[in-house]
This record gives sequence, C-alpha cells and structure tokens, in this order.
Amino acid sequence: MNNHPRLIHCFFTLLLCLGTYVHAADVPPRAAIATAHPLATRAGQEILEAGGNAFDAAVAVTAVLGVVEPYGSGLGGGGFWLLHRASDGMQVMVDGREKAPMAAHRDLYLDDKGEVIPGASINGPLAAGIPGVPAAMAHIAKKYGRLPLATSLAPAIRLAREGFAVDEQYRRYAKLRLQTLQRFPATAEIFLHKNAVPSLGYGLQQPDLANTLQSIAADGGESFYRGDLAKRLVVGVQAGGGIWSLEDLRQYRIVERAPIRTEYRGMKLISAAPPSSGGVALASMLQMLGQFDVDGMPEADRVHVMIEVMRRAYRDRAEYLGDSDFVEVPVVRLTSAAYAKQLVKGIRMDKATPSAALRPVGQPGGAGTDTTHFSILDAEGNRVAATMSINYLFGSGFVVPGTGFLLNDEMDDFSAKPGVPNAYGLVGAEANAIEPGKRPLSSMSPTFLDDDRGVAILGTPGGSRIITMVLLGALQYAAGADAETIVVRPRFHHQYLPDVVMYEDGAFSADTEQELSLRGHMLKKQLSPYGGGFGHYGNMQAVVWDRQKNRVDAASDKRGIGAASVFVQTKTAKEANGK
Ligand code: GLY
Repeated sequence: MNNHPRLIHCFFTLLLCLGTYVHAADVPPRAAIATAHPLATRAGQEILEAGGNAFDAAVAVTAVLGVVEPYGSGLGGGGFWLLHRASDGMQVMVDGREKAPMAAHRDLYLDDKGEVIPGASINGPLAAGIPGVPAAMAHIAKKYGRLPLATSLAPAIRLAREGFAVDEQYRRYAKLRLQTLQRFPATAEIFLHKNAVPSLGYGLQQPDLANTLQSIAADGGESFYRGDLAKRLVVGVQAGGGIWSLEDLRQYRIVERAPIRTEYRGMKLISAAPPSSGGVALASMLQMLGQFDVDGMPEADRVHVMIEVMRRAYRDRAEYLGDSDFVEVPVVRLTSAAYAKQLVKGIRMDKATPSAALRPVGQPGGAGTDTTHFSILDAEGNRVAATMSINYLFGSGFVVPGTGFLLNDEMDDFSAKPGVPNAYGLVGAEANAIEPGKRPLSSMSPTFLDDDRGVAILGTPGGSRIITMVLLGALQYAAGADAETIVVRPRFHHQYLPDVVMYEDGAFSADTEQELSLRGHMLKKQLSPYGGGFGHYGNMQAVVWDRQKNRVDAASDKRGIGAASVFVQTKTAKEANGK
C-alpha cells in the first residue's frame, strides 16, 4: 500500500515522458530562417521571438526584403507564399501574383506593324501589373498569423525610416539599371544619391515607403487598393503613360490555390500551382526522371537524361502554361506518369534531341532574372516557402511620387506576341497571351519536400532557371544532402529554347562536358552578368529539418549576400496567446 503513490507517480512520469517524446518527434528542435538579406533574416527572427508564428515572420520578411532589396521585390510586386500549418497539415499557395490591368490587351506592346516595341514591357508604368504583395501580407497576417499586421510590419517600417547601409550587391544592380533609374526623377531621388549609384555603406532612407507601409499596417491595404493611396497610384501611373484604373486596384484579390504535388522515389514535392509554371514543370521532370535509374548511371548519362527531361518539360511549359483562371492548363496530364512515359520514349542515350525536332511552339516566356526567396520553419513545425518579384532589377524603374516603392514590370512575363511565328517559324504560346485581369505566367517555385528523413523548404530567384535550380536542389535533398550542400551545388539548365545547356563552373566533370558535346549538346558556360570572369546564377534559401536526426539546418546561397539562422525559439506562438 505504501508503494501505491510512488507507482502512480511513476505511471504519470512515464506518460509525461512518452508525451514529451511524441512532442519531440512532431516538432522541430529549432526554428530556422534563410533569406536573401541578413536584415530580413533578423526581422523574421525578431517576430518569431516576439511570439509570432512562421506566417507572421513571413509577413515581416516579405516587407523587409522590399525595403532592403528594392531591386528584387516589394510592395509594387507580387509573389507566391507556400504555407504548411503544422496543427492540421493544411498546405496552401497564397497567389499574390500581379494582374494585367483591365485596359491591357494582347497587342499592348506591339507597334503599328505588329512588332514588339523594345523596352515597352520592361521600363515605365505601362510595364506594371496590379501588385499583390500588400494584399498577400494582409491576408496571411489575418488568416494565418497570430500577431497584428502592424507588429509584423514594424521592422520594415523602422528600416525604411531609419535607413540601411547600401551593400555591394545593391551597387552592382543599380549600376546595371542606372539609365532607367535616372530616367524617372522620383526613382532617382530615392534609389540614387545625387543621381549616381550610392557609395558603399550609404544610409538609404525611404520615408515615403515607411509611410506607405504604415498605412498598410493601419488599414490592411484598404487605402492602397481602395482609398487615397489608390487614387495617388492611378494618377501617377497614368501621368507616366500607364493604364491602371481605380477599378483595377479595387478588384485585385489574392487567390488561395492548391499546390502542385508529385512523388519521386518516396519523396513528396509540393510546389507552386499555375499561374506559376514551376510546380507543373518540376512534377513533369521528376515523373520523367522516375522512368530511369538515374542514380545508378555514370555522370554523363545522368546529366544527359536530366537535360533531355528539362528540354521536354520547358517545351510543354511554353505551350500549355498560363493563368488557370483564364486557360485550361492540363495539369493532371502533364504531371502524370503515363504522359512522362510517352515523353521519354523520344530520349536517345547517345544523342541530344535538337529542340527543333520536338513539336514546335512559340518562344518560352522570358521570366525576368530578379526576384527573391525565403524559407521559414518555426518551432511548431509551421513552414513557409515564398518567392516574390518585381521582375527585372528594380522592376519597371518607376515610382509614383510620394509612395516610395517601385512598380513591377511583370507584364513582360506574358508572351508579347503569341500566335505569330517568330524568326524560326515557331508559333507563339497562346496560353500566356495578355488578357485583361489575367496573371502572367511565372517560374517562381517555392517548394516543400517531404520524406521519411524529414522536410526541406526551398526556392530561389533566377527567372526561367528557377525551376531547374529547384529540381537540382530536390534531387540533392533526395540523395540525403543538408541545406548547405543543396544551395552550393553548381547548376546547369536547359529550357528548350534557346537550345543550349547553360552551366556554372563545376556543374559536371571535364569528361562529362566532353561526352555531352559529343552527344550534340551545345554547352554554354554562364558568364558573369557584371562583365568578365566566370559567372553564377540563383540565390537559393533552404531549410532542412531532419526528423530522424532531430536536427534543423539552414543555408543561404553564397552567390548572394543573404543569411540563415537556426535558433531556439524561446517563446512559441502558442505560449504567446494560445491562438
Ligand atoms: N518574374 C519572374 C517570374 O515570375 O518567374
């Protein structure tokens, strides 16, 4: 009888231990954030440590990246936020992609002779779609976050008001777009110093942007889409030659979409749905790769097969992909094993398939190269992978005076001239023709990977090369790599047209390079966009939670200036207020 209380105590201790064990297996031992800028990573951590969840941190990081990387994303742009909620396993893609204004039409960028007007879809407000970032941040904060929007936007407001030190990357990019930045006085006033590229360490303050962010923090974007800010934007855009109307802003809505899912050798890939081409192309490539024993192949054969798989997926991207609210995208067929089997029948191991030998379509959309990505895992296991863009460096280069942010030039992601044969006699991609209210086709591919080992969260900027970078990253993860190994891997890419393999130094061995040439692949080393030397591309941000090892790691691509942080989240959102 004397032992009875002790037995009960032991019994409850055992239950507690079991409970703790189950809990430990279900939640990551650390939170992690990887972003393209150290200040954005710090802001995300600040929000997590204030009791926010991954979704609050995503809002904070989104806003800060727009402040400190104005060349890559911002309030005037759009993006895709892939969310995973740990409590119920819900996964959704928040589509905050820009929309074409209602006055847009398929020949918007053609002259009287039907020729594309150079630069018309790239520079100035005519190139800008209706932005989705403010609406997406407000939506994520309200529906999934735990903190008030104003709290999550506070770090961005602070940085915009107090300024941040200009870094070498900013200077390089500003140099590349200097003419466009100088063309618009309101832009030059903010992003240049005395009309020249600011010096290293120059404190770039953005008081107008701070006020705009403050307005969004106060009303969740009401003024931006329907109030005084909307009026100011429309007047400014029209004065600059653009075609936005108040109705365009009023009608803008983010859309929640089911992500694209596929499985490759026991690994689930969850990625962006149309209007991104990323998830469909990734699923298609993995389905095709699944038809081969790629792991057992010599390197030259493996790379050859991967190039052929990329070629075929990008051909289909050019023909079939567009905004699924406007065109029928045959997602199920394109991502099916049966279709993949059909596609790989044409692959010869001894010879590259010339792209011209595949059924012709038009020029693949030339998705811009600049954009940004971040990956977040919080202490409860909530995840966010988000890729955002204003398209080319500094977007359209146009700022509506008094608003403080650059408008995107995402209209360039449409096919400016579909249905019309190009110089090679190929007909255009109708699915991605410009239509009022339509979202331009994107390559942005925020992605989750899920298998017995654990979970990876990844993505990158890089225009049309985003998708093949994520493919290489996914295959690295499948092979057991950690976050650092995933992001450093030298890259190669084929996108159907032009019919060349672009590659970074070290993407494959010298023997493989020779063998690929012998098989007829046209190899083109990536050159530095800044002139001279050997170049690189992409800026991948990855988080890996290895459940088996109970370890979290994160990495920010050394090709960029970003930072990754893995830390004990002392105050989880649940503890903060139990929402
Ligand atoms: N603007 C780059 C992309 O959406 O793919």
